[in-house]
Amino acid sequence: MTERVVRVCGLAKSFRFGGQTVDALREVSFDLDRATLVGIVGTSGSGKTTLVNLLGGLDSPSAGEIWVDGIPVHEIPESRLSGFRREKVGFVFQFYNLIPNLSALENVALPLEFGRVPARLREERARQCLTLAGLPRERHRHPPGRLSGGEQQRVAVARALVNEPAIILADEPTGNLDSAMSRTIMKLLFSLVREHGRTVVVVTHDHELARQADRTLVLEDGRLKAG
Ligand SMILES: Nc1ncnc2c1ncn2[C@@H]1O[C@H](COP(=O)(O)OP(=O)(O)O)[C@@H](O)[C@H]1O
Ligand SMILES: [Mg+2]
Repeated sequence: MTERVVRVCGLAKSFRFGGQTVDALREVSFDLDRATLVGIVGTSGSGKTTLVNLLGGLDSPSAGEIWVDGIPVHEIPESRLSGFRREKVGFVFQFYNLIPNLSALENVALPLEFGRVPARLREERARQCLTLAGLPRERHRHPPGRLSGGEQQRVAVARALVNEPAIILADEPTGNLDSAMSRTIMKLLFSLVREHGRTVVVVTHDHELARQADRTLVLEDGRLKAG
């Protein structure tokens, strides 16, 4: 039995920009099963980032419904979206978005500081996630500036895992990495799904990944063309 973790229904998002309206997403509907790797593909400007941002509660839809782990995200007021993100979503961005003056370990433990987890446990949990993400133990105390791009992305993946979110959203996570490192990060994302039962949504230009994904959503001009 598969279990649905995301339901999107009639989703639309328009941006007003310099007196004009851009329809970034139009009438998008789909469901996603738990413990799958979902690729999102489409040309630049097709609405991929907009879709991921709406799924993760970084922005609010103009119309339609988004359900994540049974929660109606479209009904959450903007002032409470950060709480939803902390509890339900892990983000991995193209440029890692790590805090430069914190160590890898501190970056990963940071999302736990909003909860009631004691400091010792936070550190232990952060270490486990860094190890799972493949950062060697002797680098756990390094700041991002002393890590390679691939290592920084491993830290970002660890940070995305630390709260045990319902979904992990990765927007072009290998867009800044060479092809060998991209493959390693993709393997890591697949292992999160196959070995740890996480649900991962990846925006990608990587056709190999899109082929291996359990599901591929194709966006074209804000519309879902396939998937
Ligand atoms: N904050 C914004 N303000 C105005 N237009 C935006 C904004 N964000 C995205 N867009 C527009 O929405 C469309 C989809 O953008 P985006 O989701 O970033 O596409 P992708 O990630 O597929 O490249 C584009 O036409 C883009 O210019
Ligand atoms: Mg984008």
